[in-house]
Amino acid sequence: MQSLQEKASEWSGVAAGDAFAIDEGNVFEALGGTTQPFVDLSTNFYTRVYEDEEEWFRQIFAGSKKEDAIRNQYEFLVQRMGGPQLFSQRRGHPALIARHRPFPVTHQAAERWLHHMQQAVNTTDSIDAATKTKMMYFFRHTAYFLVAGNEMTRQGHGTSCKCKHGESKPAE
Ligand code: HEM
Repeated sequence: MQSLQEKASEWSGVAAGDAFAIDEGNVFEALGGTTQPFVDLSTNFYTRVYEDEEEWFRQIFAGSKKEDAIRNQYEFLVQRMGGPQLFSQRRGHPALIARHRPFPVTHQAAERWLHHMQQAVNTTDSIDAATKTKMMYFFRHTAYFLVAGNEMTRQGHGTSCKCKHGESKPAE
């Protein structure tokens, strides 16, 4: 049986090595060691999501306040990309598949999510070009990892998976 990682690579077209290139240096430090670039990116992203002309996609986020969604996401990204453990201090383990269980994370939803994230990345000036490329590989692979996880949980299997999408980089 294909693992979630293998499905994520096949469906996203991103090899695991490219997806986790964000772990080769410390992205948080490379971007200046502050939360600002991540706040900028998440604000840019969710502004697009909450204004999406596609109602079916906008509706997926209707249960959350935009400000909360921005904070949840930027705290996760800061933590995942080498900064302080802001997300886990407030929300606990990222457990991305379990946290997305209530939502219809389909292939179509992943493409729409990635469309907005690509636009947000492109227009966030506090992130340099090389980091933008790395981030998009990570986002693309993770989005399809969540699609695979969503299918798995809907088929009644558990949600445990040894994966690197939500885990922070191990301490050096
Ligand atoms: C939260 C949908 C992909 C990370 C959420 C929420 C929704 C959602 C509806 C709730 C908003 C909130 O209250 O925070 C989706 C859909 C995706 C997707 C449809 C399409 C594939 C991703 C990806 C990542 C991610 C690729 C990581 C790179 C998160 C995080 C949270 C979140 C960290 C906050 C969880 C929490 O604090 O409980 N997502 N998401 N999502 N998502 Fe996604």
